Amino acid sequence: MTTSQRQSTDTITGAGGPAPVDRRLFRYGRTTRPYLYLTVGMGLASALAVVAQAALLARVVARVFLEGAPLQSVLGLLGGFAVAVLLRAVFAWLREVFAQRTAGDVKADLRRRFAVKLLDLGPVRLGHLSPGSLAATAGHGIDALDPYFARYLPQLALGALIPLAIVAWVVRLDWLSAVIFVVTVPLIPVFMALIGTLADRRTTRRWRTLQRLSGHFLDILEGVVTLKVFGRARAQLQVIRDVSDRYRAETMGTLRVAFLSALVLELVAAISTALVAVAIGLRLIDGTLGFEAGFGILILAPEVYLPLRRVGTEFHAAKEGLEAARSIFAIVDTPEPPVGTHPPPEPATSPIAFEHVTFTYPGRDEPALVDVSFTIEPGTRVALVGPSGSGKSTVVALLLGFATPDSGAVLSGGVALSEIDPDRWRERIAWIPQSPYLFAGTIRDNIRFGDATADSRRVETAARLAGVTAFAEALPAGLDTEIGERGVRLSAGQRRRIGLARAFVRNAPLLIADEPTANLDLDTQEEIRAALDAVADGRTMVTIVHRPILAADADWVVHLDGGRVVEQGRPR
Ligand SMILES: Nc1ncnc2c1ncn2[C@@H]1O[C@H](COP(=O)(O)OP(=O)(O)OP(=O)(O)O)[C@@H](O)[C@H]1O
Ligand SMILES: [Mg+2]
Repeated sequence: MTTSQRQSTDTITGAGGPAPVDRRLFRYGRTTRPYLYLTVGMGLASALAVVAQAALLARVVARVFLEGAPLQSVLGLLGGFAVAVLLRAVFAWLREVFAQRTAGDVKADLRRRFAVKLLDLGPVRLGHLSPGSLAATAGHGIDALDPYFARYLPQLALGALIPLAIVAWVVRLDWLSAVIFVVTVPLIPVFMALIGTLADRRTTRRWRTLQRLSGHFLDILEGVVTLKVFGRARAQLQVIRDVSDRYRAETMGTLRVAFLSALVLELVAAISTALVAVAIGLRLIDGTLGFEAGFGILILAPEVYLPLRRVGTEFHAAKEGLEAARSIFAIVDTPEPPVGTHPPPEPATSPIAFEHVTFTYPGRDEPALVDVSFTIEPGTRVALVGPSGSGKSTVVALLLGFATPDSGAVLSGGVALSEIDPDRWRERIAWIPQSPYLFAGTIRDNIRFGDATADSRRVETAARLAGVTAFAEALPAGLDTEIGERGVRLSAGQRRRIGLARAFVRNAPLLIADEPTANLDLDTQEEIRAALDAVADGRTMVTIVHRPILAADADWVVHLDGGRVVEQGRPR
């Protein structure tokens, strides 16, 4: 974790666990506030229906049983009662609709922000986070916000409003009951807060365990062959079993706390209701309180405590969402380095210069590059040579703008790369990675990925040049064969060729190739080199090669070792 991220997590966490309301979440929910208010409004409306229900019922009972009125005379009241019951159901349903709408909107918004942020941060700044925990956060984590927005947040407002509304009605009938309510209702949040601190730690631990669990699952998915061949499948399963066990234990722990809290709140509410009932009963016997008023208040008494007790229950359900929110905001609020706005200098005349560049990856102690200086003249071919781990790919990451030097600078035509608009800078680069990522789709789609505007002819030319056509002809639908996740699996060499074709179709002035010929048979190496040769004509090209012999046709060779330039010059 970088310092900045640690800081942002701490601000979210506050001193002790998450606050009952995360202000950031409220801020992100701004667009859906109207729905949140509607949700609360519906809750309040159904509370009014409850009051009306109680009042009407008390009146009917008083008329029929005490005054001996005939049934016909209370039909109107009974009709009113039925309407109140019906309204209550309608309001509850509407409340649910608005609540789901609120949660859905917030989740969609957060998912989008999360994805945009991942793309903005890029591979280097995210490198220290495990894909498993990122996936857990984006999927389950954001879904865990459902109970938070759909239940907890509206309930929190209702927990304050409904008791107030009821007490306002009760105080006109009987001030003593109102006083008992006013004194006992606050006990519920007090007990809730006490238990909440206990629940806090549990939920945090549970969420961490879940993140770890997804990490291990991802390992199994991605490493299935390695695990099997090395006979480690069993061990990995054992790890999953252990983590699952821990997750189960944490879940039971959270549940225990949730039950404990429900019990305590139930008890407080029951005792308080009993208190109101006793006070009413005594005065009924005295004759100092009318039956209708007393009965009405008695029916309502549990309803006074219910909304707040629900807040407690919903809080436990929403806790996981709050916990997940921390992970989400740790990403979404990661400060981005200021983005340059300068248009990129004319590539045909601007050299790219590394000037005393030193760079350390986040979370690492040893720098990956130390005082690296060299120049890429326009229209020339530069080879980066060096043993594994010497910093070659890091140089490329800096060239692509995924990382910025800690000291020194990368300049294009005298302008620091950090000042240049990164999107427009990358538009001018065709990148051929060590193992190109293929998206689900046809081969043609994957090649067109290099330039969405390319027409069929350009795609086919690029495919032929890169040697894709040669193997695609043997596939069922040629260039239109589905590949990637759900399609035909391709060999490493075939994937490399698609990556190459992608770069060819891009038609960019700067070509960067990360070991384009590594791990290929000699014939294929030769073909790919010839293809690169043809495309590099008139462009600037940076290639990474392992063995110096492969750098023979470069104009300039930079030897890296341990992150330092140990030698540079024309190839020997
Ligand atoms: N995302 C990352 N996060 C942290 N450290 C990294 C990251 N990528 C590379 N490193 C470290 O930086 C150093 C240089 O790595 P780099 O990938 O640039 O080497 P390379 O020369 O490309 O090696 P290879 O020939 O094996 O591809 C290594 O010590 C490596 O461990
Ligand atoms: Mg590398």
